[in-house]
Amino acid sequence: MATQAPRCTGFLQPMLYLDVADQIKQRILAGHYLPGDRLPSLRTLSDQLKVSIATVQQAYRRLENDGILEPRPQSGFYVKPQAMPPTAAPRTTMALPSPSIVNTGELAMRILHATRMPGMIQLGAAVPDTYFLPTHSLQRGLRQLLKPNNAQHWHHYEFPPGNDALRRQIARRSDSAGFNPTPEDILITNGCQEALILSLRAIARPGDIIAVESPTFYGILQAIESLQMKVLEIPAHPHSGISVEALAMALEQWPIKACVITPSFNNPLGACMDEGAKRAVAHLLAQHDVPLIEDDIYGELAHHGPRPSAIKAYDRKGNVVYCSSFSKTISPGLRVGWVSGGRFHEKIVYLKYLANFATATPNQQLLAEFLTRQGYDRYLREIRNTYAKQIARLSQAIVQFFPLGTKITQPVGGFILWIEMPRECDALKLYYIAAEHQIAIAPGPLFSAKRKYRHHIRLNAAIPWTPAVESAIAQLGQLAKGLQKGTHHR
Ligand SMILES: Cc1ncc(COP(=O)(O)O)c(C=O)c1O
Repeated sequence: MATQAPRCTGFLQPMLYLDVADQIKQRILAGHYLPGDRLPSLRTLSDQLKVSIATVQQAYRRLENDGILEPRPQSGFYVKPQAMPPTAAPRTTMALPSPSIVNTGELAMRILHATRMPGMIQLGAAVPDTYFLPTHSLQRGLRQLLKPNNAQHWHHYEFPPGNDALRRQIARRSDSAGFNPTPEDILITNGCQEALILSLRAIARPGDIIAVESPTFYGILQAIESLQMKVLEIPAHPHSGISVEALAMALEQWPIKACVITPSFNNPLGACMDEGAKRAVAHLLAQHDVPLIEDDIYGELAHHGPRPSAIKAYDRKGNVVYCSSFSKTISPGLRVGWVSGGRFHEKIVYLKYLANFATATPNQQLLAEFLTRQGYDRYLREIRNTYAKQIARLSQAIVQFFPLGTKITQPVGGFILWIEMPRECDALKLYYIAAEHQIAIAPGPLFSAKRKYRHHIRLNAAIPWTPAVESAIAQLGQLAKGLQKGTHHR
């Protein structure tokens, strides 16, 4: 959807060139000009668009700055090879970290509230729409479970460590992540979030420093905040994840008590550490005797090929506490996760018992039965493929509708995108304005204890692609452009 350039009125219109630049970009996107093609001369385009030659020149310069066009002496402007922005990865911080108190809880709660409002287009929360979940299969299991003669089996506490059959299934499936726990090594929790909180409580105390990737999932930051611990944000790269060098330096400099990493398709970057980096982190942390809390909640959602190994696969000393759940793959509503706690396992089991006695019995039985039925791997193959397509579609729409200079991650697993907009686009402002238009997004500052990432947003691609969703993205792009031009105030 190209923006219409306003007619030139002779008044000073400082932002007109941005509209012109945008129109040219849309033409390139639509394939009217291919890499290496010469763009129309300044005069020709000025006549076509009814704007001044200076405006066209400014627009071309802008596209040159954005890496889309290149000037050639005495010849004009040409489309650069590989000109379009989706290949550009958003930047993350490379600043040396220092510990900080987290304060994202209130903002996160406001955002959660917005995501529960009816009629919202849900691009904010990293939650798969029900459409993508194996609901038929689960319903079949649920009907069976609810038969009157089965009721006697689930009206009881399933005390820690939790349902035997489910733990057997989880232990068996861990093979594909490269480690082999016994069912006794598994504790069932209320989702991955509880697994993370119990692990932090087992390892660290108030005031301790916890190293995390930056940006990181806000639930991890809030868990640390609620336990009055401090966060040390270690830079992470959109492709390769946490910087092992920066982590090594931080370990020398600070008394880090634990480290929390999502090594495969992390939230929000979608980064996946390679095997070498996973092994290096396992060794580095073991050397410093610093436990790793590994969050592998997206590990089964590789778009192509086998699922990546967990860092736990390289753990020789019980130093890695492995946390995961079925929230991204089977159903977030069931609230079933697990932890394999290494040398902290017993303590975590006891803390689970203290926290809430048990995870709901029918939910565990339902999942145990679902996993035993064998259809899960087929379902996973389909859904991974679907998420790859959803990500491609959402990326294309962002390229089409968002301001020039926008950068997007290219994750090879999971279903979320991290987007860096031009500096003038304030993510919190965009969040509030978008909410007024019934569109929920997750603003960047939520993913940092220091409220960095002020012009970044995270979008969820696990939402059925409808005309309403497409126009929501178009509208979001327009709103971002409005912020860029300074025409939205709040
Ligand atoms: C990286 C990460 N860890 C943990 C969680 C929480 O998972 P659960 O819903 O299983 O508690 C989420 C949910 O968004 C997540 O993205």
